[in-house]
Amino acid sequence: MSQPDASEDMRNYYDRVMDGWLPRQEQAHPYAENASWQRNYAALKEWVATNKLQGGRVLEVGCGTGLLQDLVANYVGVDLAASSAAFMRKPFGVCSATALPFPDSSFDGAFSVWVLEHIERPEAMLAELRRVIRPGGSLFLVAAYAVAPWVAQGLHLRPSHELNLRQRLIKRTIPLRASTPYKIVTTLARRSAYLLGALGGRPTRLHYGRLTPNFATYWDYDADACVSLDAYSVALYFLSRGDKPLYPTGLLRGMLLRSRPQIYQITQ
Ligand SMILES: C[S@@+](CC[C@H](N)C(=O)[O-])C[C@H]1O[C@@H](n2cnc3c(N)ncnc32)[C@H](O)[C@@H]1O
Repeated sequence: MSQPDASEDMRNYYDRVMDGWLPRQEQAHPYAENASWQRNYAALKEWVATNKLQGGRVLEVGCGTGLLQDLVANYVGVDLAASSAAFMRKPFGVCSATALPFPDSSFDGAFSVWVLEHIERPEAMLAELRRVIRPGGSLFLVAAYAVAPWVAQGLHLRPSHELNLRQRLIKRTIPLRASTPYKIVTTLARRSAYLLGALGGRPTRLHYGRLTPNFATYWDYDADACVSLDAYSVALYFLSRGDKPLYPTGLLRGMLLRSRPQIYQITQ
């Protein structure tokens, strides 16, 4: 059976979210207070400096409210949601991350922040990013990894009396499944299997679980995510295609990867 395509729902959802932001654009964006956002922003500025991208042509995929459009002078942003246009002062296009309307090798660099987890076919987005970056150009990628399947329905936050029987049973498993020892054991087991798959030397497949996004109620961060990705599987996707990591990682060290930005020099 084919998977339902949520991208139309995703587009409508983000159009609504950004339309809601429009009258408030002069106010401080909520991300301004967000520590992860601040870390990403600092890492992005460092990426631009160390890869000499100030004078380069740089693409942002999933630019949202355009918070990062002044990162470099020669910036191009794209987003699935047309309502993003109202925030953009730089060149902007509406498209899906999985079908970028640019020729091969069009950019010296590309970046994307907290978008990959919203893409139904994230491997298609990664392939498109590699295609539009010129050989030797670089990619900066931040995503939300390992989004838990109960987040969309807010089962970790809502009181049991609001939930149906199935949801209550899932809620009872959360303390175990969200515990650090459980996460360490299951992550290492999963990543060991990915590592074995990568040892053959062929390009690896991107591993992820499908989620049902909640476009009605935003219970918590990533309630609108489509997929639960593993950071190590993303790293293997690039490493196994010969891309050079521009941060400390490798087949074994990558096993400990969490949510830090992944940065690669693209080889083809
Ligand atoms: C969580 S927001 C992040 C926005 C922005 N990157 C930021 O950090 O401020 C996710 C963004 O991805 C966009 N998006 C979702 N699916 C997309 C797709 N298939 N192609 C391109 N953009 C998409 C949404 O419209 C939204 O702007």
